[in-house]
Amino acid sequence: MSWVWTDVFCHPLWALSTVILGFVLRSQRRGPWNPRACSVQLKGKTAIVTGANTGIGKFIALDFARRGARVIMACRSESRGSAALQEIRKLSGNANVHLRMLDTSSLGSVRAFAEGILREEKELHILVNNAGVSGLPREVTSDGIEVSFATNHVGPFLLTKLLLDLLKRSAPARIVNISSMNHWKGKVDFSHYKGDNLSYTMDTVYNHTKLHNVLCTNELGRRLQGTGVTANSVHPGVVMTGVMRHYNFLVRFFFNLVGIFFFKSSEEGSFSPIYCAVAQETEGISGKYFDSDCSLVLPAPLARDAALAVKDFEFCERLTSKL
Ligand SMILES: *[C@@H]1O[C@H](CO)[C@@H](O)[C@H](O)[C@H]1NC(C)=O
Ligand SMILES: *[C@@H]1O[C@H](CO)[C@@H](O)[C@H](O)[C@H]1NC(C)=O
Ligand SMILES: *[C@@H]1O[C@H](CO)[C@@H](O)[C@H](O)[C@H]1NC(C)=O
Repeated sequence: MSWVWTDVFCHPLWALSTVILGFVLRSQRRGPWNPRACSVQLKGKTAIVTGANTGIGKFIALDFARRGARVIMACRSESRGSAALQEIRKLSGNANVHLRMLDTSSLGSVRAFAEGILREEKELHILVNNAGVSGLPREVTSDGIEVSFATNHVGPFLLTKLLLDLLKRSAPARIVNISSMNHWKGKVDFSHYKGDNLSYTMDTVYNHTKLHNVLCTNELGRRLQGTGVTANSVHPGVVMTGVMRHYNFLVRFFFNLVGIFFFKSSEEGSFSPIYCAVAQETEGISGKYFDSDCSLVLPAPLARDAALAVKDFEFCERLTSKL
């Protein structure tokens, strides 16, 4: 009798042992820091979380709400935003959670959102730039910026810039930018911002934008020295989130299957961003990069290039001041 590989891989015992191994690996994967064990309260503090209606952003907003903060959820979709708002109010028992419309791919939307905040909020203590996309097809927005660059980097850059004085007046304050270890594969080419010289295979563009996140966060961290405002970037872990919603069915199917065992849940993905935003351990730390297990690690060599960071920051300043 001949033997083919499918006989082994389709065997129930193989399937069962894979499932068991997966669960064992999962249970071993607890990070050193857990927000539930952190007693920091945020009463009297105001926090903004972008992309807060789903995934990591939702868990971050929920955590802040549980600590008693005034939370502003910045979302693109009114319907999905209000559903998440109701859920977070109910789960946290905190009614001081609010929804505002923000589409970071549009500089006009960013300006309108920031104007609303500056008009209505007296203080701002935490800004989490979480909103992001991956796998979008090539498109140039009406601002003339490639859409993934606009959404993941230029929009959040402008948002941070517009809210900076409010953050400084409210110091101590913290900016947390959700980047990704994908930035290791990113490259810097300033023609990318306009949608030139880009390849759209898989997550190439996403990887570039995440490198820009780290670069500009580092430069901002440097510029903010002595202001009481800190800015750090974090890798939340490989998380199954809506960020993959633009990939084709097979890719998502594969990642869902593998993800059951090896990826973090969105809740676990929120741990290191929350750590940067609230923990006493991270107070005063700025211009740094945190890994998904809440440890301070070095980002890729390109991301540590201080001269490149200045260039990138200045490029983004020019890009956002013209429009
Ligand atoms: C993070 O912060 C820096 C500096 O404020 C900004 O340039 C960058 O666009 C921000 N947003 C993200 C998503 O990284
Ligand atoms: C993007 O980054 C991820 C994670 O580092 C890597 O696995 C992937 O191959 C990169 N994609 C490209 C197209 O470089
Ligand atoms: C594309 O990249 C090349 C080499 O880096 C550069 O010379 C060229 O100007 C870029 N294209 C555009 C349209 O900017």
